[in-house]
Amino acid sequence: MSVQEDGGHRGTEIAARTERRWATISVIIIVAMALLAAFAGIHRATMPQPRVETTDPSRLHLSGEFAESNLGSVLEANGAVTVRAIGQQYSFTPACIVVPAETPITLRATSADVVHGILVQGTNINTMLVPGYISEQLMRFEKTGDYLMPCQEFCSFGHEGMWGKVRVIDQAKFAELAKSGGRLSCVGQ
Ligand code: CUA
Repeated sequence: MSVQEDGGHRGTEIAARTERRWATISVIIIVAMALLAAFAGIHRATMPQPRVETTDPSRLHLSGEFAESNLGSVLEANGAVTVRAIGQQYSFTPACIVVPAETPITLRATSADVVHGILVQGTNINTMLVPGYISEQLMRFEKTGDYLMPCQEFCSFGHEGMWGKVRVIDQAKFAELAKSGGRLSCVGQ
């Protein structure tokens, strides 16, 4: 065997060993990632979620937080606003939500029947309304005006006709309207 041939043989052997080593490392990485994903998934599935609020969709209108008379916007003592709304095939109640500009707003909403969604056009406000669960979403509007609020989750044949609206009005005007102490919506403005 010539020196050259021997060198070539050894080179092939080194290349094969290096390839095997890297193949082993990549298999170890894949197995480690799969184990990590399995652990994270199982761990999460066995832990209670940090915060879940439930409600009985069959009794929504009758009593409790989402009774008909409690839906709409309310000015809290600390100056913040809470909006309560429900979605049902195929509308939102209130159909037009009224809120003040430059104010922290908490939207609390749920569904009376199937899964719906609330999305406010031109903002990052986007949440699902799941029957049996309360969705809470923080929002704030800097400018007054009307914003479209379509249902963003397919909820059967009338889905494309399910639209609501958010009307952002002047802070002082909202405070004036809120003096009555009732639940506000766009109705009567
Ligand atoms: Cu409600 Cu789509």
